[in-house]
Amino acid sequence: MCGITGYTGMLNAKDIIVEGLQALEYRGYDSAGIAFCSSSGSSNKTITIKTVGKVSNLASKLASENIDTHCAIGHTRWATHGGVTETNSHPHSCGKVTLIHNGIIENYHELANELAETGRYPVSQTDSEIAAMLIDSLYDGDPHEAIRKASERLIGAYAFCIIFEDRPGSIYSVRCGSPLVAAYCEDGAFVASDIVAIIEHSKDYFVLPEHHIAHLSSEGINVVDYAGNTYECDMLHVSWDIAAAKKGGYEHFMLKEIHEQPDALLNTITPRIINNLPDFDEDGVPDSLFTGINRVVITACGTAMHAGMLGKLLIEKYNRIPVSVEIASEFRYGNPILDEHTLVITISQSGETADTLAAVRLSTELGAKTLSVVNVKGSSIARESDYVLYTHAGPEISVASTKAYTVQLSMMYLIAYRMAMATGKLSDSEAASRVKGLLKSIDNMKRVLKYDDELNEISKKIRKVENLFYLGRGVDYAIACEGSLKLKEISYIHSEAYAAGELKHGTISLIVDNVPVIAFATQENVYAKVISNVVEVRSRGAYVILVTSAGKRVDTTLCDHHIILPAMDEEFTPFCTAVILQYLAYFTAVRRGLNVDQPRNLAKSVTVE
Ligand code: M6R
Repeated sequence: MCGITGYTGMLNAKDIIVEGLQALEYRGYDSAGIAFCSSSGSSNKTITIKTVGKVSNLASKLASENIDTHCAIGHTRWATHGGVTETNSHPHSCGKVTLIHNGIIENYHELANELAETGRYPVSQTDSEIAAMLIDSLYDGDPHEAIRKASERLIGAYAFCIIFEDRPGSIYSVRCGSPLVAAYCEDGAFVASDIVAIIEHSKDYFVLPEHHIAHLSSEGINVVDYAGNTYECDMLHVSWDIAAAKKGGYEHFMLKEIHEQPDALLNTITPRIINNLPDFDEDGVPDSLFTGINRVVITACGTAMHAGMLGKLLIEKYNRIPVSVEIASEFRYGNPILDEHTLVITISQSGETADTLAAVRLSTELGAKTLSVVNVKGSSIARESDYVLYTHAGPEISVASTKAYTVQLSMMYLIAYRMAMATGKLSDSEAASRVKGLLKSIDNMKRVLKYDDELNEISKKIRKVENLFYLGRGVDYAIACEGSLKLKEISYIHSEAYAAGELKHGTISLIVDNVPVIAFATQENVYAKVISNVVEVRSRGAYVILVTSAGKRVDTTLCDHHIILPAMDEEFTPFCTAVILQYLAYFTAVRRGLNVDQPRNLAKSVTVE
């Protein structure tokens, strides 16, 4: 949460920072600010300009200023400590030090008390300003030393870009927990929370290692550890194009990303199909990872956790070993029982979610094997897991996850099949036929992408309600959970997902006339059961939207809308039902006039607990 970026080089730094912040705005959009070096003769000054609200507000404010600078840092904020005010916006300064921060300094109170004794008092309510004060108190002309000493005192997560007034043209960066990538090219030196802020200038970049200091100047980027030893960072290359991070004619990123799903699935699945069989050789994931285990724990947050719910059903179906799905923020403090025979699978789009990362670290500490399913290359979760399977969704900008979710689903199928092959529970021919079905589901998803008019029409009804319920059993319950989250997240309508059989244990009291119930009944073994639950809500006045497989004859008095999936193997319905729930959330939010891509109070990458 919070996007930070810095640039030093030949180009106009103000423009580069504004562009970078616009690309990073998905990380936070409460306020924005920039600081830059201004030199006249032998005197250097750091000038800071901030605004409340979106980056566009900052851009308008900067447009009226005649700024010619070649070195600047910028920040877009997701507020944690202190309200959304200009004073609490970044950058924060103290003495010669000006910095931007992404993360949370947990011991800021204690540090503030100590710094008060040196005559330094904050003007904001932020933890970040305390970090600026601390670094200033330790600065005697050597930036590396001040940063190193400060890092010994700071507890929490941070990525900083720091400028020192007496070091014009230089930016210093350091991180612990929070992400930072950097690149140097003929345009200059860049640093940012995410490559999307840099990609217009360079597709080659590196992840700044934790507890290392990067010094950016127009001549290059020098990375050293805290002892001063030079560190050669591994270079990464972005395979997608800048166009992938732009709206490309769609009204919203979310809609664009919904439509990108078939390609994202193809890119994620096909490199893992060798001779018609799932294969993780290229990923370096050995079969031995799957043979020596007696249990799987899947842990993740939000949408990624919902993908894990499907993973549980698939792995248990094909492997007959117990799988539990744990919310990462609960798992990490839940005193879990893990050992070397446990495989912990973490799922994350960003690869930076603080709780999921903590779950990886805890699992490693307790001796479990860790496998992560991650979209962002080189992210912390990917680097800290024993093994990683990258999904290839490309950049997902809308806060509401869509294509990242369905590629995570596809990876659950591949893992379930490969694991079962490795343990001899699935024959090659059966695995090949499963893979065929998986690939076919991409075409079925394309068919459901054409249901947009029908779902847009249904959203007319939904937009007016205050409460809504999603129902399903088994696979459809996992999907219902995602449907409910998506709707709440972007349309601000209260919604709950219920395992259909559980409804009568309390929640059915909330079903009154015209409360919408979206019921998924796509699985044959529980079809009749879900239909009975639909009858129950219908007889209490619910407005029912029923989703079934093809070929089901449904009593027309049972529902207000009947959405019929294309004919398919029922194992793969999630790729189609996912599109339905995404469209419902999307069209409803649009009809309510909301900011679909940047819903209130949320940020894309949750790097705080
Ligand atoms: O980056 P991650 O996949 O680890 O993020 C986890 C959740 O924060 C995320 O899935 C969130 O629930 C989505 N934005 C919901 O659409």
